[in-house]
Amino acid sequence: MSVGGGASQPVTSPQPVSGPLTGAAIFMILTVRPGQEQAVRDLCGDLAGLLRSVGFRDLSGGLSCVMGFGSDLWDRLGTGAGPAGLHPFREIRAGDRHAVSTPGDLLFHIRAGRMDLCFELATQITGRLGDAVTPVDEVHGFRYFDERDLLGFVDGTENPAGADAAAATIIGAEDPGFAGGSYVIVQKYLHDLDRWNALPTEQQENVIGRYKLSNVEQGDDVKPSYAHNALTSLTADDGSEIQIVRDNMPFGRPSEGEYGTYFIGYARSPDPIEQMLTNMFAGLPPGNYDRILDVSTAVTGVLFFVPSVPLLESLADDGGGKGDGADDGSADDGGAGEPAAGAAAAQPGSLGIGSLGGARPD
Ligand code: HEM
Repeated sequence: MSVGGGASQPVTSPQPVSGPLTGAAIFMILTVRPGQEQAVRDLCGDLAGLLRSVGFRDLSGGLSCVMGFGSDLWDRLGTGAGPAGLHPFREIRAGDRHAVSTPGDLLFHIRAGRMDLCFELATQITGRLGDAVTPVDEVHGFRYFDERDLLGFVDGTENPAGADAAAATIIGAEDPGFAGGSYVIVQKYLHDLDRWNALPTEQQENVIGRYKLSNVEQGDDVKPSYAHNALTSLTADDGSEIQIVRDNMPFGRPSEGEYGTYFIGYARSPDPIEQMLTNMFAGLPPGNYDRILDVSTAVTGVLFFVPSVPLLESLADDGGGKGDGADDGSADDGGAGEPAAGAAAAQPGSLGIGSLGGARPD
């Protein structure tokens, strides 16, 4: 069953949380009906196989899938003490700005170079879950020109890559039972594009903190303190930057006047993303809020835990999710071994989930 990853190499086998930006994505949020947890367990055991079946039909499409769990469902799965940072998304209210907290037991973040691959996998997943789940939200995102959001700015430039991305997103020794896991926060934003497009380009650039055409960052002498990239830049006590990995996607329905950005941010703790949200919505200092919010409304907001591949697969067993790294060393898991203590050791999953998160095909 092993597709990638060495047999004796100690790896944490994360799901492909920091996969490359792709041309298409589906974000699917579901709730699980009471008493239907077994359907979720069954899917945990089947997901890698479904992914291989669909992804193999066009390997150049780079199909990948991340499966996340909300705190309520994680508790219902009865796995014992949960990941240290998992809790319901905390809403923020400040002035007329509102980061809403909305329901969500399961998140599927499906990415590929082609929408048909994403669509087929989503179809297979929902087919397996059947009426055990209730749909909450489904967004089909597309890549818009040179990685631009619908506000017209290039989105994703300052994402960490490679080992930096793994260090930013993969839980390590700080929560050893959940090493190789990650946290993800999603928010669906709707934009008032008429209002945004009425702003002069210079004002838009001040809101984002970058120049629109060139994508070059504004200098410190120009950038306002309310700029989006000022409010979302966090510095650790030792002066280093605290990073997250984002893969925002535009979506919309022009005939209905719907234009949006689906925000998705991965990190090894929810703390930095929550701090960024506080800075954006309440302001830093309070009142100095993010002007993106003058033209954008968050209509969803959910926090999920993303287990490592071995922990995900262990959920398929009754009473699985031992909270001990959950790699039982069975032949079926490719012999991935014990979780490594540090995030830097993160490798693609040995079960195909990570392995299929291939390079961007275009
Ligand atoms: C309407 C929703 C949003 C839009 C349209 C948006 C757009 C952008 C753009 C255009 C950039 C600059 C280029 C880049 O580095 O990617 C950026 C940067 C960034 N955004 Fe957002 N963003 C949104 C929401 C959020 C949220 C909710 C967060 C976190 C809670 C966030 C965190 C960041 C971070 C960390 C950066 C990089 C800052 C830096 O170090 O320069 N964004 N965003």
